[in-house]
This record gives sequence, structure tokens and C-alpha cells, in this order.
Amino acid sequence: MTRSRVVAATFGAAAHQYERHATAQAHAAQRLMARIQAHAWPNSMKILEIGCGTGVLSRALLRRFPECRLLCTDLSDRMVQQARCNGSEWHQVSFAVMDGEQLAVTRGWDLIVSSLTWQWFVTPLETFARVGRLLNPDGRLMVVTLGDQNFHEWRQLHTRAGLSHGMPDYPSMAAWRALLTPPACVEEEFLSQDHPSPLAFLQHLRTLGANQPRAGYPPLAAGTLRRLLRTAPHGITTSYHLIFLDARAPFFSHDSGRVSLQTSAGDEHAGQVHFYPKLAMRP
Ligand SMILES: C[S@@+](CC[C@H](N)C(=O)[O-])C[C@H]1O[C@@H](n2cnc3c(N)ncnc32)[C@H](O)[C@@H]1O
Repeated sequence: MTRSRVVAATFGAAAHQYERHATAQAHAAQRLMARIQAHAWPNSMKILEIGCGTGVLSRALLRRFPECRLLCTDLSDRMVQQARCNGSEWHQVSFAVMDGEQLAVTRGWDLIVSSLTWQWFVTPLETFARVGRLLNPDGRLMVVTLGDQNFHEWRQLHTRAGLSHGMPDYPSMAAWRALLTPPACVEEEFLSQDHPSPLAFLQHLRTLGANQPRAGYPPLAAGTLRRLLRTAPHGITTSYHLIFLDARAPFFSHDSGRVSLQTSAGDEHAGQVHFYPKLAMRP
């Protein structure tokens, strides 16, 4: 099975229970939504969502922009089915099973959004540039993804035990800032969750379908994993490293094989870091 099929199947298996456990994901979508609402938009805007999952962000978009036309896409057909079920009262929504790195859509979007999906891409930076070309001349590509410090506590637990971890290598703030120079906006936030044990953290990832390690990671032997889990007997805090990207069209060009971005003026950026109180975990 290819990696993308494995990722789709793992998320698909969690689709029925995803929203009961996706507290941090709901928070990230809410934060992205606040950024979207800060801009002015045409009344009957066309929105493309990449990696809609069960429709957490989709429903927020529809509540805020009831006149919009929205295409919700996801790699996992079961996620798309669940999103369709959850948003059945809206008529201006279409759904499609689609790989966000190989979108089969035409140009002409006012807003392209994605919440906590970009980190699953094989080539996140290049894909950002490619997807941006699908925007209308005044359109925006607005994404929240995970950064290189995501779950740094979990990484440290492994490092201290002399083990390698299965967390993927996500692009850093510096990498995104090198790609998206001002006036495009690149900001980060950290969001922490307490788990009663390291095992509870792993089980939490499984309930979300987000338990696929990076490609090629050999799983730890059972005994090694047990020893590792015993190194944090009083539980573990894990922090999401959220990176918010906001770039306006027209900004993409290819220059001798390198992706370069030309952002249009007028946006404000602060590049601030926000820390939020820990999220309460549902039992
Ligand atoms: C953590 S969930 C986020 C879902 C939703 N955006 C939310 O905020 O709840 C990640 C989603 O990305 C989807 N996904 C993973 N790789 C993808 C890809 N290459 N193209 C499109 N969707 C992808 C998964 O199927 C899953 O639904």
C-alpha cells in the first residue's frame, strides 16, 4: 500500500469518533477562522478546503459566509462521507475525495483554506506555491499546519532514552518565512495538552487517526516501548506547534526551477508567538 493510502485508511478508521477527541484541532480551526474573518471578502465567494476531515472548519466557514460556494476535499473517502453527513443542511457545499498535493480543480478561488492537513504533505513548501496559483487575483491561501517543534516533549522523551522518535520533520518557522516573505504572514502559536501517561498520548493520536509515524520509521520493539513509557510515570504534556500561513495572490512564480513568491502589499504581520492555557482533555 502506498503511504497516502495508509494515511487515508488510518484517518478513515477514526472518522466516526474524530470530533469527540479533536479538541486541539477544533481550537486550531477556530484560530484560523478568526484570521480569515479579519479580511474583507466578496459576498458569494468561492472557497476550496483542502483536508476537510469531518468538516470542523467547513461548518465554521458556512456559518460565517452563508452565501459562499464551498468545495470540501480530503484524501480519505470516509472523512469526506462524515463531513457530508455533518454538513447535510447546507446546499452550497460540494465534496470530493482528492489528494491536496495533486488537486484536480480549475483556478478561480477567492479563498483556499486548510486546517492541520498540510503537515501530512510530502512536499509542503512546494505544494503551497503550487496551490497558490489556483487563486483569483485577489484571493488568499490561508493555512494552519504543524511546525518543527510539534510535540517537542515527546521527541525529548526519546532523545533522553537514546531512541529515535517517529515524529515527521515538519518545516520550521524559518523555512516558511524564507518562502513567504512579508507582506505574507507567518505566525506561530503553542497549544499544550496534559495526558495522564505517555500511553494515553499515543492512544489519543490513534483516536484522531493521526498515529502514522514518519515514512520509514521502524516501530520500537514492545519491550523498548514499555521502558520508554515508564520514564514518564506521572504523565506527559505535549504541545502542538501551530504555524499560520496567510498569503495573497498573485504571488507565485517559477524561476529556474526554484519556487519564489511575490506577495502583494497591504497585509499586516506581527510574527508574534502566543501561548494559551492548556486545553482540558475530555475523558
Ligand atoms: C488532523 S485531520 C484535520 C481535519 C480537519 N481539517 C480538522 O481541522 O478537523 C487531517 C486530515 O488531513 C487529511 N489528509 C492527509 N493527507 C492528505 C492529503 N495528501 N490530501 C488531502 N487530505 C489529506 C486526512 O485524511 C485528515 O482528514
